[in-house]
Amino acid sequence: MFRMLKNAVRPHLQSPWLHKAHAYLHRLAALPDHPSESPEATDLEQFFNARTEGPGIWKWRHYFDTYDRYLRPFRGQAVHFMEIGVYSGGSLDMWQSYFGDACQILGVDIEAACRQYERPGISILIGDQSDRQFWREALKDRPPFHAVLDDGGHQPHQQVPTFEEVFPHLAPGGIYICEDVHHSGNGFFTYMSALADQLNAGRISRTPSGSALPTSPAAKWIRAIHFYPFMVVVERNQRPVDRLVSEKHGTQWQPFLK
Ligand SMILES: C[S@@+](CC[C@H](N)C(=O)[O-])C[C@H]1O[C@@H](n2cnc3c(N)ncnc32)[C@H](O)[C@@H]1O
Repeated sequence: MFRMLKNAVRPHLQSPWLHKAHAYLHRLAALPDHPSESPEATDLEQFFNARTEGPGIWKWRHYFDTYDRYLRPFRGQAVHFMEIGVYSGGSLDMWQSYFGDACQILGVDIEAACRQYERPGISILIGDQSDRQFWREALKDRPPFHAVLDDGGHQPHQQVPTFEEVFPHLAPGGIYICEDVHHSGNGFFTYMSALADQLNAGRISRTPSGSALPTSPAAKWIRAIHFYPFMVVVERNQRPVDRLVSEKHGTQWQPFLK
């Protein structure tokens, strides 16, 4: 598997398309703006704005919109949500208010002081997210998570083992968000880019009705990987996908493609 990922990344590093992308940055820098209305602040951002005292929340402002895009369907549901990185407890307040009373939240932190934020609806687990054994113990006998947010130590050696151990424990259709993936060339970003490339891996073959691609292990389980500034969002497939198929329906076709 490692060789597979390494081979997936290497051609990209030498690809002329990489240079084209960098060259395009000059044009992007000069792109004219189209006037538009500012979007309304999400409930999450409003909660954050209103938190002027009490347990602290520490977030990049542009995260709220992305959180809301993926997590909104879980609001009002009996959602199992985990946030890695508790710090001063304020973000747990925010998630509980956002998801509603039926949610079950697990906060994970390496600092024992974070235990104090435990209360009905919120459990706290103390451990090191880079320790795979910690995750194996922690996840044993625990129901799958509908959504997970990694806002812990922010280092690739913590983010990668966390993703690898926790992703299999996502519920079908679950969402995995890793934030504070800082700087160009970031290790977690590179790791995720290689997995993203694997979504397209394999050889397409013709079938009587069109074509088909037996999926790679990545495409079998991952529906999509989204990259945002400082943030990566991974969607788990609703069910394992073994093949991607292309079909042509209809009887009238232009002659220019065979
Ligand atoms: C940025 S703070 C979390 C902020 C919080 N989620 C919020 O929105 O206010 C990062 C937290 O990650 C915790 N942390 C750092 N390294 C960790 C590790 N290896 N395992 C688990 N937690 C870790 C720190 O103790 C700290 O509380």
